[in-house]
Amino acid sequence: MDKFKIKGPSKISGEVSISGSKNSALPILAATILFDKHVTIKNLPRVKDIDTMFNLLKSLGSKIEFKNKKRIAIISKGNKNKFFAAYSLVKTMRAGILVLGPLLAKLKKAKVSSPGGCSIGVRPIDIHLKALSKLGAKFKIVKGYVYASTKKGLMGSKIKLSKISVGATENTILAACLAKGVTRISNCAIEPEIKDLTNFLKSAGANIKWVGKRTLKIEGVKILKSTNYSIMNDRIEAGTFCVAACLNEGNLKIKNFDPKTINTEINLLKRIGAKIQTSNHEIEIKGPKKIKSIDFIKTGEYPSFPTDMQAQFMVLLSKANGKSIIQENIFENRFMHVPELRRLGAKIHIKGNKATIEGSNNLEGAELMSSDLRASVALVLAAFIAKGTSIINRVYHLDRGYEHIENKLKKIGVKIKRIS
Ligand code: EPZ
Repeated sequence: MDKFKIKGPSKISGEVSISGSKNSALPILAATILFDKHVTIKNLPRVKDIDTMFNLLKSLGSKIEFKNKKRIAIISKGNKNKFFAAYSLVKTMRAGILVLGPLLAKLKKAKVSSPGGCSIGVRPIDIHLKALSKLGAKFKIVKGYVYASTKKGLMGSKIKLSKISVGATENTILAACLAKGVTRISNCAIEPEIKDLTNFLKSAGANIKWVGKRTLKIEGVKILKSTNYSIMNDRIEAGTFCVAACLNEGNLKIKNFDPKTINTEINLLKRIGAKIQTSNHEIEIKGPKKIKSIDFIKTGEYPSFPTDMQAQFMVLLSKANGKSIIQENIFENRFMHVPELRRLGAKIHIKGNKATIEGSNNLEGAELMSSDLRASVALVLAAFIAKGTSIINRVYHLDRGYEHIENKLKKIGVKIKRIS
């Protein structure tokens, strides 16, 4: 298993270009199951989860042609319509459950491995199944597989999601696109990646309208047309580099993404003292001499502060001049980075879903263990500002969601080496 060796402290400066969004690409790739004609998808990030989704689609009969080192995928239906999504593929990438809605809509049946949990939480799918059953699907769960069927095909319905869920919103949208009649989905998640999904589907002729802040109206269509779509860039990668710039009086130009998608994070970074200039597709950010603490931050559904940025902000606040509190409201076990940050000397204690961070710690390099995608990137941030050498184990977690991260970091001055 690969490791990273990082020497610190470094001051970073220069330019970094943001890659395509993993969390936008995954539902859009799952959506290709709905099509009879080929679909061209561009700006795909070269990360492990996307390769896993490619393998899942191929196992379901899709034909995939790649261009530009797999950043462009031309996907068409194979002649065999398979509907079995194996545990071996879904267990490493929970977003595999997103093929359930499209398989039901297209083939009227599916056998999909339930995702299983991960280090950040149980990751249930009850909201997905409740919403899909409102459209006429029947389910039974046997030995970890969801057996789904809809004899007469999916029928439009009025659905109120019992909790705001990104994946459940996406699965329901994908199922409703070809359902007979009108579907109204309320209490939708409204992350930018979901807007990207609805824009993609509309570009193929789906009849989808946002009729309220969190309400969608979808009129099922018979078929979706061939389309050519470039996915949005990754707001969490962009936010991660913004935090990196603030850690040690860094100075970065972060290009090729829409700063409006990280408004909440930008406001918080201004509060800790960063100097920020934004334009349409880039941010210039200068870290402060002194990082100001923030007495209370809580994660929430978009447009609130994103859970996927919680670990990164915790590193920043461990360098602040005072005490800060972060409350994690989305996942039940998303503080796996805390014991690792403590090994570097950070003073953080946890009570329930609240972490209290005593600031202005001098961090010292140490050997560390990655646990999930965002916790791992937080360790990289802490390691490059710590004094001395750090080793970060199991960087496959990082490879799932950050494209060529060590090259991007090296280019801006981080002393990082991958040890295979
Ligand atoms: C998506 O996960 C993202 N993954 C996550 O990013 C992100 O952290 C999360 O949304 C929240 O923003 C992808 O887009 C591939 P949810 P998802 O359904 O869809 C509970 C990363 O690092 N819930 O919005 O699984 C659930 O347990 C990943 O890129 C149910 O109870 O998140 C959680 O507490 C990590 N029942 C909350 O809702 C359900 O049926 C939000 O989960 C579904 C979810």
